[in-house]
Amino acid sequence: MMIFADTSNVEEIRELWDGGLIQGVTTNPSIIAKQHPGGNWHKVIAEICTFVRGPVSAEVVSETSEDMVYEGKELSEIDENVVVKLPCTPAGIKACKVLTEYMNIKVNMTLCFSVAQAVLASNVGAFLVSPFVGRVDDVSGTGIKLIQDIQNAYINDIKLSRTPKILAASIRSVEHLNLVAQYADAATCPPKVIWKIFDHKLTVDGLKQFQDDWKKANE
Ligand code: E4P
Repeated sequence: MMIFADTSNVEEIRELWDGGLIQGVTTNPSIIAKQHPGGNWHKVIAEICTFVRGPVSAEVVSETSEDMVYEGKELSEIDENVVVKLPCTPAGIKACKVLTEYMNIKVNMTLCFSVAQAVLASNVGAFLVSPFVGRVDDVSGTGIKLIQDIQNAYINDIKLSRTPKILAASIRSVEHLNLVAQYADAATCPPKVIWKIFDHKLTVDGLKQFQDDWKKANE
């Protein structure tokens, strides 16, 4: 399973990328508004793409399908690794169909909360689908089951080789990562969750013991 950083903080992304901890990046309008208020966010996406050589999702803020197509095309022109993020709404699905079928532009269908939405995303050729594990857990505690159910639906899809990759989003903990890794192709989470992966008591204690034993034997 690939791991993506869910942030637009360039320094944090660079540290994760250089450290071999991520294979891509996702952003959304809330993240951009918080981390780059009033800034030229297309420039931020361009800067991320100078060193991240994997998918970088950038989300449209337009509301009609026509505007989404226009904005999506503009975003895709920033870099070949940009994946246009569209919401699972009628306008988003329609825009996905146009961008993928006629313009060959990769799309990430976001705000996915049901198998049916994931099926619609698949049927219009989305490259990625983003089910929000944490937000589903907040309301029903079934976030992991949603990922599992979407994987099953895609396995049974007649166009198996062309179904979207499942990008588990809204990941809040290492436990989430451990669970979605069985069903998702990728997971996107905040940098602090990625660093927390190393925070395993047995790894920390085990390393200390190795170092202590080594020092004692070589005193
Ligand atoms: C997905 O691409 C979103 O940017 C993100 O994972 C949402 O996470 P949140 O529910 O923690 O805001």
